[in-house]
Amino acid sequence: MDVTIIGCGYVGLVTGTCLASIGHTVRGVEKDAKKLKTLLDGHCPIFEPGLHELMQEHFASGQLQFTDNVKAAVKDAEVVFLCVGTPSKPDGTVDMGFLEGAGKEVCDALAEYNNDYMVTIVVKSTVPAGTNRKLYGFLKEQTRAHVQVVSNPEFLKEGTAVQDCMNPDRIVVGGESREAFLVMRRLYDPLVKPEEKFLTMNWESAELTKYAANSMLAARISFMNEMTILCEQYGADVEDIRKGIGSDSRIGPAFLKAGCGYGGSCFPKDVAALEHISRAVGHENLFVHVIQTINKNQKKRFVDKIENKLGRPLAGAKIAVWGLAFKADTDDIRESAALDVIRYLLDKGAQVKATDPKAMENMKQIFKDEVEWSQDPVTCAAGADAVALLTDWPQYTTLPFRKIAATMSSPIIFDGRNCLHRDVMRDAGFQYYPIGRPAVENTLRLKNRV
Ligand SMILES: NC(=O)c1ccc[n+]([C@@H]2O[C@H](COP(=O)([O-])OP(=O)(O)OC[C@H]3O[C@@H](n4cnc5c(N)ncnc54)[C@H](O)[C@@H]3O)[C@@H](O)[C@H]2O)c1
Repeated sequence: MDVTIIGCGYVGLVTGTCLASIGHTVRGVEKDAKKLKTLLDGHCPIFEPGLHELMQEHFASGQLQFTDNVKAAVKDAEVVFLCVGTPSKPDGTVDMGFLEGAGKEVCDALAEYNNDYMVTIVVKSTVPAGTNRKLYGFLKEQTRAHVQVVSNPEFLKEGTAVQDCMNPDRIVVGGESREAFLVMRRLYDPLVKPEEKFLTMNWESAELTKYAANSMLAARISFMNEMTILCEQYGADVEDIRKGIGSDSRIGPAFLKAGCGYGGSCFPKDVAALEHISRAVGHENLFVHVIQTINKNQKKRFVDKIENKLGRPLAGAKIAVWGLAFKADTDDIRESAALDVIRYLLDKGAQVKATDPKAMENMKQIFKDEVEWSQDPVTCAAGADAVALLTDWPQYTTLPFRKIAATMSSPIIFDGRNCLHRDVMRDAGFQYYPIGRPAVENTLRLKNRV
């Protein structure tokens, strides 16, 4: 099928590449000139495992093309995806500017082609309930083209996006047209075996499914983060509790890992959006409000703990930050916990040195010379009073910890992702503070050092 993708960011590029790999002809439209040039040069503008190779293969074969010309890209399309960003505004409501802009451009392109063929507009961006219905009304009013609109929220996870896209748990399609459902069924045919994976519903149910999914996942993390407070007070281990409840088939193991707070381009904005979507119909959604409050407190608590355990004000303390991306295997820093943690540390007067294998360039745009940048965790920790680990990059678990401890002014690690091994830390002579787990207080070694 001829498919056009408007917006070649994380979702658009992964979706377009995966659709090309199952045989569709895909034209990606990208309006950011720098990103488009990277794509046209055959490179991938984001770091996502497996994407670069797959993209290059289908770009080279011509199955996947890129342009900034919406009209030409829409002309022969049977399906047009809208994959533009829907970020939060400062008050937490959804900024619909990109989607409205893209919708208008597609509408103008369609108005030129009074074609006999049906075009299915697919809203993949995460949007408030009622958006697809409004878009359909707008297109019907503005163009005589035979057009249908479906909501098709995306559930991929950055870091495993290609795998998620090629092996989806389910494909949700919301709309009011049987014809459009059939188009979507045909489009995704190789990916929706067994048949039960293809779920059709009305527009509003599909739109709310996406917000409900992300809020539920964020709630599980916030719940476990709240449990860490009790664990630290009563001497329990949140990892044991995770295993204890995750093995209950009614609960399941996913998204129960405690840490210094969730982040990313989706959870924070989607939970905030659900609060506002509720408020728009006169309902105070206390549940989603609490999820966010716990998440905010967790990041603050992490910095307070650093200050308490160091036993001195943070002003002038040298803190090495390992990990800036909101999770491992991505260069994405949107709403990353590192943004808040570093800001709190700086506000308290700490000197911050930071490193990340993939996300450092993105973070430099935010903190510039407020932070000292290190190419690797070993140089980052040298001379520091403490390390704060904020992203669970697997390579951080295999570092030469004895060597690192010897170069620090005091060997203390605050593990914001509970990803290091307590015994390894003890052996290397660290004081080690995970979250909601028993600490290692290597006071003997520390005393020897003073
Ligand atoms: N990133 C994720 O993990 C993820 C997962 C599920 C759903 N989503 C949702 O998918 C949507 C897109 O997210 P993303 O992370 O891919 O965003 P993104 O910011 O990475 O990508 C959006 C892209 O669209 C481009 N763009 C904007 N307006 C355009 C226009 N008129 N024409 C052409 N290009 C245009 C931008 O330049 C950008 O490259 C959002 O609604 C998001 O909530 C994201």
